[in-house]
Amino acid sequence: MRAAVLPAVDAPFELREVDDPVPADGKALVRVRAAGINFLDVLIRRGRYPQMPEFPAVLGVELAGELEDGTRVMSMIPAGAYAELVSVPRASLVPLPDGATFAEGAGFILTFLTAYVPLTRQVRFEEAQTVLVHAAAGGVGSAAIQVARALGARVIAAAGSAEKLELCRELGAAEAYVYDELPDDLRVDVVVDPVGGELFEAAVARLRPLGQLVAIGYAGGLWPELQPAQLVGRNVGVQGVYIGRLLRHAPDVIAAATRELLELWSSRRIRPVVGAEFPLAEVEDAHALVESRRSVGKVVLVP
Ligand SMILES: NC(=O)c1ccc[n+]([C@@H]2O[C@H](COP(=O)([O-])OP(=O)(O)OC[C@H]3O[C@@H](n4cnc5c(N)ncnc54)[C@H](OP(=O)(O)O)[C@@H]3O)[C@@H](O)[C@H]2O)c1
Repeated sequence: MRAAVLPAVDAPFELREVDDPVPADGKALVRVRAAGINFLDVLIRRGRYPQMPEFPAVLGVELAGELEDGTRVMSMIPAGAYAELVSVPRASLVPLPDGATFAEGAGFILTFLTAYVPLTRQVRFEEAQTVLVHAAAGGVGSAAIQVARALGARVIAAAGSAEKLELCRELGAAEAYVYDELPDDLRVDVVVDPVGGELFEAAVARLRPLGQLVAIGYAGGLWPELQPAQLVGRNVGVQGVYIGRLLRHAPDVIAAATRELLELWSSRRIRPVVGAEFPLAEVEDAHALVESRRSVGKVVLVP
């Protein structure tokens, strides 16, 4: 089979012929029809991820495809989705809903869980609360807008450029701003932050009393030091989310949240946004698009 192999940090991807995976007991062979690019793949490529793989490595944690009998499935895996075939534990296979495309399936489970788990299990969430979403047109951000709306929140979207704001409004944001133009006096109950860095720091000051900041990622730079005094004094909290570890230590939570998300998708209250599709051979261009901050929704590779 062919796979997009990353030989080393910062190296170009190489499309190589490699051995087909041979599924062990309890695993199934999946023909990958679409692999989602997650920002963590970019962080690994640039040597900025805390758990670096051994190189050469095949990246990719989100996929949709077909079993040998043609059953359509989705899955999140530890690595290896940028390939024509993967071996996946049967317990991690989720049926791809009828009518959904493979590209949508490749941008669903991990991306939506990352928004859904904190908003349903970590923050105190009541109808009509105001949720500010950073990087709101991105993969996790576009999921967070839809999930927060489905839970009854009023959503304010923020993104890095004006071109992204229309999509945020289409997904249900009541207001949308580029970061620099967020009103100084804006105060919210929840902030969903996949960006980190200075935006994270500014978000602490935007929380209303009893508000919660959800720390998801650091696409824009590492988190600043945060002293408990900054939280105590404001009566606010920070919640961290790391779906990979939750999958290992609380698989029942992941399974229940996945079922709930599938119901929301089937009732059309949420839907993955596919911003661009690239053949596997053009993985370099696909990564460049994500790194350029010009992508919206999920960028998907098609082997
Ligand atoms: N905790 C978890 O379990 C978990 C799971 C999945 C993903 N994540 C994290 O969630 C974040 C979003 O992931 P995603 O795959 O959905 O990515 P994405 O949002 O589609 O892309 C990243 C976005 O971050 C923003 N950004 C801000 N500064 C940036 C910079 N210096 N370089 C590149 N992008 C920058 C950009 O949006 P703007 O231009 O609008 O700012 C960009 O579109 C990432 O940090 C990822 O690592 C965490």
